[in-house]
Amino acid sequence: MNYYQNELKALRKAGRYREREVVDESLKDFASNDYLGLAHNKELHHQTCSELDKIPVHGAKASLLVNGYHKAHRDFERALCVANGFEDGVVLGSGFNANIALIEALCRKGDIVFMDELYHASGVLATNLKDVSVVFFSHNDMDELDELLSRCKDVKRKIIAVEGIYSMDGDLCDKKVFSIADKHDAILIVDEAHSSGVVGERLMGVFDHYGITIKPNHIKMGTLGKAYGSFGAFILASKHIIEYLINRAKPIIYATALSLYDTILAHKSLEYILKNKEILKYQIKKRQLIIYDELDIKVDGLIVPIVINDNKKVMQIKESLKQKGYAVGGIRQPTVPKAIIRVIARLGESEDELRKLSNILKSYL
Ligand SMILES: Cc1ncc(COP(=O)(O)O)c(C=O)c1O
Repeated sequence: MNYYQNELKALRKAGRYREREVVDESLKDFASNDYLGLAHNKELHHQTCSELDKIPVHGAKASLLVNGYHKAHRDFERALCVANGFEDGVVLGSGFNANIALIEALCRKGDIVFMDELYHASGVLATNLKDVSVVFFSHNDMDELDELLSRCKDVKRKIIAVEGIYSMDGDLCDKKVFSIADKHDAILIVDEAHSSGVVGERLMGVFDHYGITIKPNHIKMGTLGKAYGSFGAFILASKHIIEYLINRAKPIIYATALSLYDTILAHKSLEYILKNKEILKYQIKKRQLIIYDELDIKVDGLIVPIVINDNKKVMQIKESLKQKGYAVGGIRQPTVPKAIIRVIARLGESEDELRKLSNILKSYL
């Protein structure tokens, strides 16, 4: 029985067929989201294991609300609040779940979510849920957002959802989104999956980068599987919003708490980032300059999107680079409107290698 044969055939024909590949560790990694190379930092791993050895459990065992809430979770949440200037926070299983939690729980009947059209698939998926009304605005178009919010006078709650750095285009959200949210008394969700650990005076993300004073309408979501080299996510907000999420967000209530290993490792990573911020910022800047020098692309973070606009060609380039020893992302429709080669100029690989890869890429363009 092959229930989905036709669908799979159609995907192959459109050049959209996907398959898992076991990672080839001999390749230079310019594909993963491990921006700072912390997923390879054995010192952080050893510190985490030795801390875990001192406590009687190593599994989270239950939901945060049953008896899965460990001191390790609380300590990390508090450290995140202090580092980011928020009143309260909660850690959970993944950024995907965090977006579902936020959109599903916060957007009640009579409310509207105003979402950037390039917002992550997890947030978009949540807008398909019953009772969630959504209006998409053109990517980073602040005039359009302002206009849409002005038109919706009778809405109970207005909720804006943007990303700090967009996962595929690699650009920052517009700073105006913060004043627009205030002007319309809207709640503002910023998904900092690709910006926390990468931008800002203290590398805490876009709130830090733009020097925003945290207000009760601000919600910051961050993932731990990217710059933090671990796994999971956090939501930071005002006390009452976190209290509400804990009482209402299904991915927090009905899921096992974040693993203790991931929690402690991410906490170590946070401390590492804050302690080493100057050298990390210097290394990030150097990689951004290499990309500008070699490819004439100005990047805000460490995501370098190179538009190819052909699903098949993208996969050919990706394969050819693999033969030369480099792993890069080949991102096709429907994830992006035009297929791209996505290079992550991560600190885990040397500047020399980034320059070499850029030169090879130049020859394809
Ligand atoms: C912008 C954005 N938000 C959320 C997520 C989901 O995070 P996680 O991988 O922790 O589920 C991703 C993951 O790729 C992302 O790029």
